[in-house]
Amino acid sequence: MVQNKQPGPSDLFIFNRTGHRLRNRTVLAAMTNKQSHSDGTLSDEEIKWLTRRAKGGFGIITTAAAHVSKDGQGWDGELGLFDDMHIDKLTTLTDSIHTHGSLSFAQLFHGGMRAPQYLTEKTPISASKIPCDES
Ligand SMILES: Cc1cc2nc3c(=O)[nH]c(=O)nc-3n(C[C@H](O)[C@H](O)[C@H](O)COP(=O)(O)O)c2cc1C
Repeated sequence: MVQNKQPGPSDLFIFNRTGHRLRNRTVLAAMTNKQSHSDGTLSDEEIKWLTRRAKGGFGIITTAAAHVSKDGQGWDGELGLFDDMHIDKLTTLTDSIHTHGSLSFAQLFHGGMRAPQYLTEKTPISASKIPCDES
């Protein structure tokens, strides 16, 4: 009798729409390590840390939460994804992750009312009327 085998964590996965192939179904969760520079560019330490996870065999490497605009930065050392100045190091990171056989995800983030003014120099923005005294 032929049985339908459910895929396991070590099985290949192919994204229907793009055809991207994952060597397995493991995903490194987003983990904030506060290692980026104050302008949001990736540090070499952060690139090394994420590349080591790719060498270790994860199918997907997720970055730490990364703010999509300056007014959305939530904490010191956060990765930024909103300016051309970020591209060089991001390219180094993705090339390095791909070289070691993983795919890369960036976790997009905006701190909203919890984006502290001392970092953003902007009044925090939010869809909520409820005040937040963290800024
Ligand atoms: C040090 C640390 C940093 C984290 N940073 C983020 C983050 O930037 N974004 C996020 O969505 N989750 C973050 N998380 C949550 C993890 O991605 C994950 O969801 C959590 O650890 C639960 O996973 P587990 O059930 O496998 O332990 C962080 C967790 C840890 C321990």
